[in-house]
Amino acid sequence: GASGGLPGRSPAGPPAGFPAARPRRLRRGAALRRMVADVRLHPADLILPMFVREGVTEPVPISSMPGVVQHTRSTLRKAAAEAVSAGVGGIILFGVPEHKDARGSAADDPAGIVQLALADLVSEVGGDIVIMADLCLDEYTDHGHCGLLTAAGDVDNDATLERYGQIALAQAAAGVEMVAPSGMMDGQVAAIRAALDGGGHTDIPIMAYSAKYASGFYGPFREAALCAPQFGDRAGYQQDPARSVREALREVALDLAEGADAVMVKPALAYLDILRAVADTVDVPVAAYQVSGEYAMVEAAAANGWLDRERTILETLTSIHRAGADVILTYWATEVAGLLASRG
Ligand code: PBG
Repeated sequence: GASGGLPGRSPAGPPAGFPAARPRRLRRGAALRRMVADVRLHPADLILPMFVREGVTEPVPISSMPGVVQHTRSTLRKAAAEAVSAGVGGIILFGVPEHKDARGSAADDPAGIVQLALADLVSEVGGDIVIMADLCLDEYTDHGHCGLLTAAGDVDNDATLERYGQIALAQAAAGVEMVAPSGMMDGQVAAIRAALDGGGHTDIPIMAYSAKYASGFYGPFREAALCAPQFGDRAGYQQDPARSVREALREVALDLAEGADAVMVKPALAYLDILRAVADTVDVPVAAYQVSGEYAMVEAAAANGWLDRERTILETLTSIHRAGADVILTYWATEVAGLLASRG
């Protein structure tokens, strides 16, 4: 035309009938997509949950979590060293004791499996990876609940707090670098902070499982930690999935007021709305736990050839990170750290 543009085309715009905006331009080719990506997973952001079982001489496979095992003390060391080599940021330990009782004595026994294994980890990988421990009672009680029971069979919140303080001290004595209380008792962060400080462990941070929901996705974990409740369920202390985000924000605020150094949302994939709201609200690191059922779901579908395993794993973790998780607990941590390294 008169202004020098192509015929039928106004100087500023596309030919009539063509889109002015073409987001697809930035999707043409893997190199371009890689350059413009702005949600990147990093191995250091991953935390590997590990199980260590007392009294076994070989690792015990967990049938509902193919690829995950209950470690012996020696295979735990090896797997922790592999996580370090892959660049994983942290490990969180769960103990599976041989003997369980009503008060979960093994949880704070200095010779209990989790304490022994923590000391093993400190000697094997100390300084190279953050050594954390789950702090709860369900793996150690014969009834499988996360706290002490009253005579009527209810979970006794305040008596449980005292036990949590004792467990924190036992884990600290064994060399834990960060404790992660998961029992959802009211006041647990304050009780644990007070116990740690009273024992001279003012430097041990608390990553609180703050917004933890009563979830069907914990199913496989109960096989992994042999901790299914023998009666009832955990809905009396874990959050109801049918409550909106306000309750999660209240739990998070309480934990921060009690001294939590980092907060967690759990499970992850079905709770991305909660994760985003928490990440937008707090000024501490936010963790998300991609739980056993999330793992099992993808592994089972992949084993059937119903989805592309690696692609789906990376997609779930990218989405959890995109929703606001600074760190992610995932049973795939070592494998994914390796994948990330190999893909650049
Ligand atoms: C409680 C605890 C559980 C999980 C982590 N810590 C079980 C529960 O709350 O019922 C579940 C983790 C998973 O499913 O991967 N100690």
